[in-house]
Amino acid sequence: MGNTVKVRVPGTTANCGPGFDVMGIACNLYNELELKLLPEHVLNIEIHGDGANKIALDERNLVWKTIERLLKAVGDTKYHGAEIIMHNNVPLSRGLGSSSAAIVAGLYAANCFLGEPLSKQGIFELADEIEGHPDNVAPALFGGITVSLHNQQGLKHISFPSKLPLKLVVAIPDFQLSTKKARSVLKANVPFADAIFNVSHTAMLVAALAQGDAEALKGVFDDKLVQPYRAELIPGMYDVFEAANKLGALGTTISGAGPTLIAYTLENEDAIGEAMVKAFAKHDISSRYLALDIDTKGVIAL
Ligand code: HSE
Repeated sequence: MGNTVKVRVPGTTANCGPGFDVMGIACNLYNELELKLLPEHVLNIEIHGDGANKIALDERNLVWKTIERLLKAVGDTKYHGAEIIMHNNVPLSRGLGSSSAAIVAGLYAANCFLGEPLSKQGIFELADEIEGHPDNVAPALFGGITVSLHNQQGLKHISFPSKLPLKLVVAIPDFQLSTKKARSVLKANVPFADAIFNVSHTAMLVAALAQGDAEALKGVFDDKLVQPYRAELIPGMYDVFEAANKLGALGTTISGAGPTLIAYTLENEDAIGEAMVKAFAKHDISSRYLALDIDTKGVIAL
């Protein structure tokens, strides 16, 4: 394209069990975006890889809509169109952060193209506004294991590396589940005891990950606020969890809003992946698995 910016963004897994809308981890599954902004009202979008035939190639395209938001936010009046080429490896609508990857890639690339009018925190705030919650955009942007929230001081995050060589074994079913649908089954009110369960488990999960304490990680990926309600949307969920746990996984959860299920392990990653796929198959769900590592960089310019 000439005079383009090229960026690479990781897929992510959010919630990590009990840390709903708060915790996220970047993984070594990447999308790449090449971007050239144009002064003319012209949009040339080319998509390769996962979901290529399902992604809009016109003004409804999420990367483009995101870029338009950034142009507006920084008060740019020079650019009205773009050439966009995407190479996608993050599966679409499966709970591995495809929409956050699109948003972060679009914002980061456009910001680079314009000479960085926004700081990384500025990009984070805009990405969170577009996505609606920060748990996937934080790891896509900053890499590593992230904790993020809104409070009176604004939007905050902490990103830290894993002290353990954790493998993220993801079993990706052959069907999509929109975040909107996965959120529609959640309850406005939850039992107090379940809330305490999640607070205690999230706190221990963060402490164990930060300290690299594998023993303390066992059992703390469990969740009572979200997964029991989402189980109806993911046939075989508990059997897939059990198959991975039997082979020594430290914990098993839904990845983001699902339907991908994830096992966290220090060993046996291929046996665990195969067992998860087999357990899904018993419920007539075809799936594939990937044994991923944690990405520590987040989005980068190439
Ligand atoms: N925390 C979000 C959810 C992640 O589980 O709905 C998906 O965007």
